[in-house]
Amino acid sequence: MQADIERKIHPDDGMWQPAESWYFAVGRSALRLVDLAARASWLPKIGSILDLPCGHGRVARHLRAGFPDAELYFCDIDHSGADFCAETFAGTAIHSKPELTEVALPKVDLIWVGSLFTHVDLDRTRRWLRYLSEHLNPDGVLVATFHGDWSLRMQEIYQMIDPPSWERIVADYRATGYGYAPYRDVDMGDYGISLSRPEAIIAAVRDIPGVRLAGYMERGWADNQDVAMIAREDREIPWTPEFRSRK
Ligand SMILES: C[S@@+](CC[C@H](N)C(=O)[O-])C[C@H]1O[C@@H](n2cnc3c(N)ncnc32)[C@H](O)[C@@H]1O
Repeated sequence: MQADIERKIHPDDGMWQPAESWYFAVGRSALRLVDLAARASWLPKIGSILDLPCGHGRVARHLRAGFPDAELYFCDIDHSGADFCAETFAGTAIHSKPELTEVALPKVDLIWVGSLFTHVDLDRTRRWLRYLSEHLNPDGVLVATFHGDWSLRMQEIYQMIDPPSWERIVADYRATGYGYAPYRDVDMGDYGISLSRPEAIIAAVRDIPGVRLAGYMERGWADNQDVAMIAREDREIPWTPEFRSRK
């Protein structure tokens, strides 16, 4: 899946500054995952997508190029990011809040969540995964990324958080499967870095009614973050005579 993308970069795009060399490859990798997720679910066609958090469009530009006719929604707590994406990649801006369940969201075929759960604790991960799953159309799919085992190496290569906080995160991750600590050096409220085992994410998904886990990939996003695919199709739904003919 390859299409020409809009290359305009917003001056405040925080993903561009440190990562110019891999910015476009990371966005392209997200588009491949979206395509893969659609194939791993029963979704016949992607007609609408929510990109949350959209930032300033690292992935949005690929979504627009890959799905020229789809209705796109761009959501971020950074209003300038959501507004820039809506304007530049022809979609609707949604301004988020620190608590995602307080944000009115549309129902869509596909939700892409690139690096949001990587910054919050397990309670929010569980609550927000459920909330987002409720905003999928039937057969829709949610694709979300996480810091998995590879992030243990990432912290050595590109320090994500101060070492004492990282020690705490790793200790909790080893003890429970999920670690989190807020950033201490910047005032961003209860926002920081998380680290999770696939088992912790799978357990969270299995607690959500009306969905099924369509896939989990270690280092699936740009050879870095883990990826979970959650399909809006009830894992308990019985076989029916229509089952074979509906797809
Ligand atoms: C690591 S960046 C990833 C951005 C984008 N997905 C990308 O790949 O370039 C994390 C983003 O999450 C946004 N964010 C943080 N808390 C949020 C919330 N409660 N709701 C929506 N966006 C949030 C930040 O503003 C930031 O743009």
